[in-house]
Amino acid sequence: MFNTMTVTKAAGALIGALLFLLLANWAASGLYSVGAAHHGGEGEEHAQAYTIPVEESSGGAEKEEVQIDFAALMAEADPAKGEKAFGKCKACHKLDGNDGVGPHLNGVVGRNVASVDGFSYSDAMHAHADEAPQWTPEALQEFLTNPKGVVKGTKMSFAGLKKPEDRANLIAFLETQQ
Ligand code: HEC
Repeated sequence: MFNTMTVTKAAGALIGALLFLLLANWAASGLYSVGAAHHGGEGEEHAQAYTIPVEESSGGAEKEEVQIDFAALMAEADPAKGEKAFGKCKACHKLDGNDGVGPHLNGVVGRNVASVDGFSYSDAMHAHADEAPQWTPEALQEFLTNPKGVVKGTKMSFAGLKKPEDRANLIAFLETQQ
């Protein structure tokens, strides 16, 4: 009887230990999956935290991206195609040194912003010249993407060239027009 009690106790202890292990295991997996879920959540937060700053600084980030793309695009740009794209500018811009609705664009790549003597630029373009004094290829491609967005109040009524390739080709063409 005593013996039986000991056996029962021992069995009880064993079962207790197993139960403890089972519980511990369950708790651990619970913790683990909670941890994993939490981790996943964190990951999402991370993804969001990552997206938000990118969106906030989207101007800068995009600019950077565009510049990287753009350098590559410029390297492959085709001035002959750019001449076709210039068809969209011809109504207002000449390449023979004479100004039309807009200032002449021969020599514009590398030219100072709002620097054509005798052309009456908008105040917006003069203000832009203080911020970004030179028409570098990058400055041109940015302006031509969205003229009114980049130079708010410009009197250049042109919606912009949406395709980066068009801008690159056009700038490559303008570079040949001195
Ligand atoms: C509807 C007429 C019009 C069209 C089309 C047009 N522009 Fe203009 N552009 C202007 C005017 C007007 C200005 C002067 C803007 C100002 O003073 O705000 C200007 C200014 C510019 C300037 C700044 C020049 C400087 O001396 O600082 C550049 C560069 C330019 N245009 C490029 C282009 C290109 C490239 C195209 C074609 C993709 C184009 N424009 C299409 C009217 C036009």
